Amino acid sequence: MNKKIILITGANSGIGKETAMTLAKEGHTVIIHGRNIEKTKKVCEEIKNVSHNQNIDMVCADLSIMSNIPKIVAELESRYNSLDVLINNAGGQYGNTREVTSEGHEKTMAINVLAPFLLTKLLLPMLQKSKSARVVTVSSASYSVGKFDAKDIELNDGYSLTRSYGLSKRYVYWIMQKFAQSGIDGVTFNTVEPGSADSDLGRVSRNGKLANLVYYLWKPMMWSMDRAAATSIYMAVSDNLEGVSGRFYGNLKEKNIKSKFRIQSEIDEVWNYCNKICKDFLASC
Ligand SMILES: NC(=O)c1ccc[n+]([C@@H]2O[C@H](COP(=O)([O-])OP(=O)(O)OC[C@H]3O[C@@H](n4cnc5c(N)ncnc54)[C@H](OP(=O)(O)O)[C@@H]3O)[C@@H](O)[C@H]2O)c1
Repeated sequence: MNKKIILITGANSGIGKETAMTLAKEGHTVIIHGRNIEKTKKVCEEIKNVSHNQNIDMVCADLSIMSNIPKIVAELESRYNSLDVLINNAGGQYGNTREVTSEGHEKTMAINVLAPFLLTKLLLPMLQKSKSARVVTVSSASYSVGKFDAKDIELNDGYSLTRSYGLSKRYVYWIMQKFAQSGIDGVTFNTVEPGSADSDLGRVSRNGKLANLVYYLWKPMMWSMDRAAATSIYMAVSDNLEGVSGRFYGNLKEKNIKSKFRIQSEIDEVWNYCNKICKDFLASC
């Protein structure tokens, strides 16, 4: 297996950290993205020590703020000529009340959809400099939750925790489909769902008696972190997947997404929406 340069977002905890550790042990250059500098530095040191791989780098930014994304892309461009793999792993789940970022976007949509859209777009020139590049994006089995409304993509009216999370994970699958359909030379785009793992993801959404009860009942069924990270790792580096694009994988196998969840006009609506929202940040590319 060729050694690759791999950027993993949200790699300072949970599934992203496990993904980073395994890829570091395999000898790849791993760029850990986090949003807290001290926490991210500590994780980099831990990964270097455990993996005996010194090629561990880091970038920091709150990705829910779109204006931060061109800054980390510029940082990466100043350090690396090319990028072989981007793993869009960072993600969030919020509460029962709709919250917006300082840029006015619903928080779940900002981190789960707008961030991977913009980061992937802005990194395309670096990815295209690789001999063979891959973008792997972490969605969820929850992609099937929530009714789509083209007039209310960021859920101004119909917000609920489950609907925003479910739809955000469907939108991000659609965005990766659209990238794959664009036939960008030398870059593949795939989506994965990691199963259910006991991470920090529910740190906000689990507040409340019922949510906590469901969590404790469900906990014994949860997957180990290494099992949850396995599909991202497989999609990122396995020789079996060379040239494979536009697929949705879970538990190391391709998943069949029902046609009602991949209606082209809906995919186009979300793609056009993201382009419109991000247009100021895309103007230079
Ligand atoms: N765990 C599951 O059962 C499960 C199931 C399906 C899908 N997923 C998906 O798997 C991915 C990884 O989640 P996880 O379970 O490992 O949860 P996690 O431990 O909470 O990890 C999420 C990562 O994303 C980062 N992140 C969140 N908001 C961010 C922001 N605004 N800017 C920058 N980074 C941010 C977090 O950084 P901080 O550490 O700084 O908060 C963390 O590193 C997510 O996309 C999630 O939706 C998880």
